[in-house]
Amino acid sequence: MSLATLFCFRLNEFSPVVFLLLYLTQILQAWLPDTSTKLKNPIEFPLESFRGNSSRSDHFTILYQDDDTLLLGGRNRIYNLSINNNQFSERRHSEIFWPSSEAHSQLCLLKGKSEDECQNYIRLLVKVAPGKLLVCGTNSFKPLCATFVWKNGHHHREPNTSDAKGLCPFDPDHNSTAIYSDGQLFSATVADFSGGDPLIFRDPQPLATELSDLKHLNAPNFVSSVAFGDYIYFFFRETAVEFMNCGKIIYSRVARVCKHDKGGGSHLSRNKWTTFSKARLNCSVPGEYPFYFDEIQSTSQIIDGTYGETRTKIIYGALTTPDNAIGGSAICLFQMSDIQKVFSGPFKHQETINSNWLPVPEIQVPEPRPGQCVNDSRLLPDATVNFIKTHPLMEEAVPAYFGRPILIRVSLNYRFTAIVVDPQVRTVNDRTYDVIYVGTDDGKVLKIVNVASETVPKALVISDNDVFAKGTPVTQLALGQGYGGVVAVSKNETKLVVLNHCKQITTCSECVELRDPHCAWDQIKNVCVSVDSVTNFRYLVQDVAKGSAAKCKLTEKEPGAKKVEYISSNSIDEDDDDSDTNLNELLIQTDDDSILDDCSDTNGDFSSACLKIKKSEFTSGTLWWGIIVAAMVGLLIGFVGGYCVSKKLYMNFSNTSCIEQRNHIDRLNVNQNSFLARPKNVNLDVLHMTQETLPPKKDNMGSLKNLNINEGTLQKIKKTYI
Ligand SMILES: *[C@@H]1O[C@H](CO)[C@@H](O)[C@H](O)[C@H]1NC(C)=O
Ligand SMILES: *[C@@H]1O[C@H](CO)[C@@H](O)[C@H](O)[C@H]1NC(C)=O
Ligand SMILES: *[C@@H]1O[C@H](CO)[C@@H](O)[C@H](O)[C@H]1NC(C)=O
Repeated sequence: MSLATLFCFRLNEFSPVVFLLLYLTQILQAWLPDTSTKLKNPIEFPLESFRGNSSRSDHFTILYQDDDTLLLGGRNRIYNLSINNNQFSERRHSEIFWPSSEAHSQLCLLKGKSEDECQNYIRLLVKVAPGKLLVCGTNSFKPLCATFVWKNGHHHREPNTSDAKGLCPFDPDHNSTAIYSDGQLFSATVADFSGGDPLIFRDPQPLATELSDLKHLNAPNFVSSVAFGDYIYFFFRETAVEFMNCGKIIYSRVARVCKHDKGGGSHLSRNKWTTFSKARLNCSVPGEYPFYFDEIQSTSQIIDGTYGETRTKIIYGALTTPDNAIGGSAICLFQMSDIQKVFSGPFKHQETINSNWLPVPEIQVPEPRPGQCVNDSRLLPDATVNFIKTHPLMEEAVPAYFGRPILIRVSLNYRFTAIVVDPQVRTVNDRTYDVIYVGTDDGKVLKIVNVASETVPKALVISDNDVFAKGTPVTQLALGQGYGGVVAVSKNETKLVVLNHCKQITTCSECVELRDPHCAWDQIKNVCVSVDSVTNFRYLVQDVAKGSAAKCKLTEKEPGAKKVEYISSNSIDEDDDDSDTNLNELLIQTDDDSILDDCSDTNGDFSSACLKIKKSEFTSGTLWWGIIVAAMVGLLIGFVGGYCVSKKLYMNFSNTSCIEQRNHIDRLNVNQNSFLARPKNVNLDVLHMTQETLPPKKDNMGSLKNLNINEGTLQKIKKTYI
């Protein structure tokens, strides 16, 4: 055996170790407690449950909501629930009962649908006039709208019904969205029984997207719709038509249509939008190969807020990695002005079926510019109308505000499914923060605060609450009354919870370090109070920006008059100097590294998160010792395993593959070292490793596939790589 082979052989011995280590980091991550969350499933939060009337699935959806009323669409019914004082009470008298007619349900059964599917699931409700409601339901796979008039203390259905094809889905599970604006209903759903013909539709004065044109809509899942200026914006995810490599990939999109579009003038374009265009949403962790969260699951409404010193209109999105990848979820903010900018930028096109997608040169864009609102679109030249029909996709992607997510969760257990925002909650010292609630596919609702400043995107998870049974996805969220009130909807059950944890907190430092804009420490009563229950903010201590409990100590030491002086001199002010936050640390903020992030945040002070860990099962010290010990054990097992494996492989081992392998190992070893040296970035390294160490060689791809890393991610990385 030559020396070179021996050397290679030695190196090869390491490969099982490396693989094992990678695998171990995965497992470890699953073992690690969710440390960045300040309150893990707080023992007590008020919870009300509503299950509808039947034992059958209601496929609940929120049709309407205001301060004290929640209208829930269900099976053959609209439930009218009072949510006063965060308690459900059913208002039976104003419930709407509207089952499918016998004929319709018989026909549905004949078409081979089940009895559960052959019901009228109410999906849409519009108040068209006082006391007059337009209601649409799936009606046993034959969508129908009816008008209900309030008379003598009951809702009466008018005899005339209208076809709801294009307004309401056929299947209660279809992800559709609709919005009523300026007397018109804009809807994004499917137009056929099988669900294969998606469209964006307006009624009355019908206008639609091209049916069966993959450039317009390609197997979309619609998520939400908002009205903004002259346009209606639709958020959805769909199969990306511009993705040129093998396989399929899903992108998040925002599309828009002009509210007052009148369609084209020619016969062919009469009932078609002349303004439908769409763009990709870019929610990614930047880097040489950005890591994308490509599948939008939910958005908030448009929020007019102040972030740092900037006042802007933004929309929050919850985005995830694909189903078959490592569970990654992120929250990204998109500025409405950025969205508008992309729509006035270049268009994307593909010359022939096999050529690349490229921006359309400015001179090839006809005048007047396609896709804009105009007085009367019927008078537009054919060139403009045809252009937008064939070029609905914009070249640029809408960047996330800050260019990256404000929060990332890598979890093997759940993915984000729903988001709602309590906008601009005012703190004691007159700053404002958005409180975000996020639902997961594992029945959780997370309470999060966006503490992003001008330059640093950042959000903190205040609490992690098991609202539904494990494995029950939260499908929708809405705000309840007061601070922390949240309505959480799942397929079969709707719950009302109050995620206001102030009362549970017993010390000043914990209260301040929680950084919940809803809570502040009352120095007179010595309790952590919910800020909305207090009128005089004078004796309250709060620090959402930094969570520094230093102010507690100061005031505790110097009671009496001095304390008051201290407070009124406004030194309890938050300073938003977040400069110490290392941007790199935010790159991939896993459950465990964000906590260290938190600790460093207070300049050596013990921050809440650090304190919390001390108090709970173990210190962060033990935690890392645990990791190191586990890694060592892994190393040992790896050595033994590797030795055995390599012994077996030894015989059919050739020189060439040796060198290949060595290159590969060398690089992996670098990362392995950094993993041992800085256990804090465990996950960072895992992800980086897969990204950085992937040479564009087929064989190495193959060898990495043997790792226990999910293939989907690899594929994605492969894609971003190419
Ligand atoms: C729901 O109940 C409230 C209170 O009784 C009533 O004001 C409202 O009109 C009802 N809504 C519907 C759609 O029945
Ligand atoms: C709707 O969205 C949910 C959540 O993302 C998904 O699980 C479900 O499959 C979608 N429904 C359809 C019909 O695609
Ligand atoms: C998305 O944003 C990241 C970070 O800002 C950037 O590096 C990347 O090129 C963008 N991707 C697209 C498709 O625009």
